[in-house]
Amino acid sequence: MSPRSSPPAALIAARGVTKSYFDGARAHAVLAGVDVEIRAGEFVVILGRSGSGKSTLLNLIGAMDTPTDGQIWFGGQRIDSLGEESRTLFRRQHVGFVFQAYNLIPTLTVAENLMLPLALNKLDRDSPYARVRYFLAQLDMADKFESFPEQLSGGEQQRVAIARALIHKPTLVIADEPTGNLDLDTGRQVLGLLDRLTRAEGRTLVMATHSQEVIGMADRVLTLSGGRLIATEVAT
Ligand SMILES: Nc1ncnc2c1ncn2[C@@H]1O[C@H](COP(=O)(O)OP(=O)(O)O)[C@@H](O)[C@H]1O
Ligand SMILES: [Mg+2]
Repeated sequence: MSPRSSPPAALIAARGVTKSYFDGARAHAVLAGVDVEIRAGEFVVILGRSGSGKSTLLNLIGAMDTPTDGQIWFGGQRIDSLGEESRTLFRRQHVGFVFQAYNLIPTLTVAENLMLPLALNKLDRDSPYARVRYFLAQLDMADKFESFPEQLSGGEQQRVAIARALIHKPTLVIADEPTGNLDLDTGRQVLGLLDRLTRAEGRTLVMATHSQEVIGMADRVLTLSGGRLIATEVAT
């Protein structure tokens, strides 16, 4: 077995990952040989200008998408070669997502939005409400149990989205520009919450952002440029 096909020690590893989009016969490589390892419990920030491939990379690491070439390892398993259905099951169990646009289900209450990941994973079938109440209390939102997303402010919706991303205890939390739609103060609150809740339970957090403040919270900052990831020196 060649060394490159043996499992990495890190929780997540991308090896020689390329992602190309095709415009007719023309291929456009958004990622062109990305190598990265992320250890369990790390908080890694991905920087890069708009269009540099941050979301593309997060979607590969989170098993939403598959690379054109290269390997993605997650917990000793190759996830780049999984089929669609296996990836869905894998994601459901191991990954929590926080998006810029919150993406809560508008026809479900806050409590119902939070129960969905539990139901999909067959967790807490006897008393899902207990876990939902506990999470909402942690977010200072116990009184929003029966509210619908449209009745909440952006910051509140993002707090619910964070709870939804964490409630099934995923190994990895992916946040794609989670403060992109929030004002500075609210964004700061949301980032503090994400940092605190993921660290408290030793979860791994990978976040794409433009926010300068996050850079100080992260364990490591990586920049996507020209389709590759480069380590960024962080002044401390
Ligand atoms: N499904 C797709 N089909 C074609 N091109 C895409 C697709 N998704 C992303 N791209 C292109 O890939 C590049 C990187 O996109 P993205 O990963 O969203 O960047 P970022 O998140 O850093 O803004 C952009 O040029 C974008 O237009
Ligand atoms: Mg993006």
